Amino acid sequence: MNSFKQNLKYISLVCLAVVFTQCKTKSEKATANSEQSEIQENTEALHISTSEFGKLPSGEKITKYQLTNKHGMEVAIINYGGVITNLKVPDKNGAIEDVVLGFDSLEDYLIPPPYFGAIIGRYGNRITGGKFAIDGEEYTLAQNDGKNHLHGGNKGFDKVVWEVKPIQEKDYLALQLSYTSKDMEEGYPGNLKTIVTYTLDNTNTLKVAYEATTDKKTVVNLTQHSYFNLSGDFSKTILDHQIMINADAFLPVDSSLIPTGEFKDVAGTPFDFRSSKVIGKEINTENEQLERGLGYDHCWVLNNQNNGQQLAATAYDPESGRIMEVFTDEPGIQFYTGNFLDGTLPAKGGGTYAKRTGFCLETQHYPDSPNQKEFPSVELKPGETYKTETSFKFSTK
Ligand code: BGC
Repeated sequence: MNSFKQNLKYISLVCLAVVFTQCKTKSEKATANSEQSEIQENTEALHISTSEFGKLPSGEKITKYQLTNKHGMEVAIINYGGVITNLKVPDKNGAIEDVVLGFDSLEDYLIPPPYFGAIIGRYGNRITGGKFAIDGEEYTLAQNDGKNHLHGGNKGFDKVVWEVKPIQEKDYLALQLSYTSKDMEEGYPGNLKTIVTYTLDNTNTLKVAYEATTDKKTVVNLTQHSYFNLSGDFSKTILDHQIMINADAFLPVDSSLIPTGEFKDVAGTPFDFRSSKVIGKEINTENEQLERGLGYDHCWVLNNQNNGQQLAATAYDPESGRIMEVFTDEPGIQFYTGNFLDGTLPAKGGGTYAKRTGFCLETQHYPDSPNQKEFPSVELKPGETYKTETSFKFSTK
């Protein structure tokens, strides 16, 4: 009897131990599962999908990479020109709409050029007469904008095929685009290895990070040429948008849009955007600079230079409530109000792009810097790394 009782006690103890261990493994599993599902939930929300966007005349396939975050913000990028074809962000009611100008088909991107959404290189904006010198040696570039050189020439970084590496992490998605521009390509010296990384995170921020190295002294000034219309309606102009530019001065231009070299105080001019102002407020006032640009098409001299990432500009569309903040470590920002759009280019989803249906905020060094010694230098030497970053942060109010 005693031995039976003892056996019973022993069996119950074993059972208890088994139940306890099972409970423990179950609860451990539950925690592990919830961690796992969090990761899955996160990575499921943050995802990259790819599709074919079209074919180049050479037959080469162009791929569209679509990055989506957990709020449904979406950025689509193609390996041709590193072009951002779509950027979909929520408005104040949560409606997700496309806020960048672009085309539905690859063919439209092949016809030059409004540079919609493209990576610009080697040199963003104009170089006077398409000439510059390094250490006394003169280089000649394409004169593809009247007598001047614009946005890297006839086949700039906006018209080349980039190698793409998609990256998926727990909290962000990235696309790393690489392109090596050969020595003397478009007239620029040095083999330039370029990496542009687009990153989308869950704070609705799209970051663009640029890196480049060379094997011969050269000049570099990379930027991103998206045209924004925060209303999400491309039949509307951007004249009602409000813009703030964190700059006390801008660079006046000559009649061919080359900076004169003067740093002009914005105070008392239509170029004063230190406090947020409606774009259309003074765009048509009588002003020689506005006449030369056919509106705003100038580089602003940003405040707080050489101080890491700084707020350079803010854009706000009161109707949709969308806000875009631009942060950069660059000294300048080209604010261009789509003055050359003329209703001939086909809009995504139908219609055409009329004058001023998009604006650009191109963070960069100043135009024509290779020829203007008082401007911050754009020279890159072998052994150095060109490194710069710009972020576009979206929110609503
Ligand atoms: C320039 C404009 C030019 C536009 C499209 C902008 O960066 O400042 O003058 O028309 O790009 O090419």
